[in-house]
Amino acid sequence: MALLLEFIALFFITIYSYLEALVLLFIPVKRKSVRGDIVLITDSGHGIGRLTALEFAKLQSIVVLWDINKEGVEETAEVCRNLGAKAYPYVVDCSKRNDIYSAAEKVKSEVGDVDILINNAGVVFGVEFLNLKDHQIEKTFEVNILAHFWVCNLSNL
Ligand SMILES: NC(=O)c1ccc[n+]([C@@H]2O[C@H](COP(=O)([O-])OP(=O)(O)OC[C@H]3O[C@@H](n4cnc5c(N)ncnc54)[C@H](O)[C@@H]3O)[C@@H](O)[C@H]2O)c1
Repeated sequence: MALLLEFIALFFITIYSYLEALVLLFIPVKRKSVRGDIVLITDSGHGIGRLTALEFAKLQSIVVLWDINKEGVEETAEVCRNLGAKAYPYVVDCSKRNDIYSAAEKVKSEVGDVDILINNAGVVFGVEFLNLKDHQIEKTFEVNILAHFWVCNLSNL
């Protein structure tokens, strides 16, 4: 009986979602402007973080870029500036709490309060679970888990 009720609910939700999508096709939702917003993107010296920074730069946000790789993060900043955006690169090791806290202080005084945070930082070692070395396990937790807590700790941003 419960399963039948779930199917009925699913049926109506699906119909509703299609109708909503159809209406929104003709009456698009006004998109929020992020022009002038301060956007902090971690790990933005390369890859997805850099590409995200470029998208915000095109929308004329102020991009704050964190990465462990100085060359990479400065290159991202340069490309963002060429797109007409203000860009502030910082060398930060997101696996180190004190690095994150001191960078957050600098951002606050040099750029301002962050409006949007893109917590992109992450590492993957690409080896089988049982072959992971101790230091790789620790790094995974430091960057993929703990860093998110330190960065989201708004009192430090
Ligand atoms: N690319 C994919 O297909 C994919 C898929 C799923 C998840 N992800 C995740 O998305 C995130 C970004 O992936 P990507 O492919 O852009 O990676 P990438 O390797 O291209 O870039 C990662 C960036 O992070 C920086 N970095 C590494 N350790 C750091 C640290 N401790 N502190 C600060 N910066 C550090 C590197 O210098 C580099 O610039 C990662 O969390 C990754 O696990 C990626």
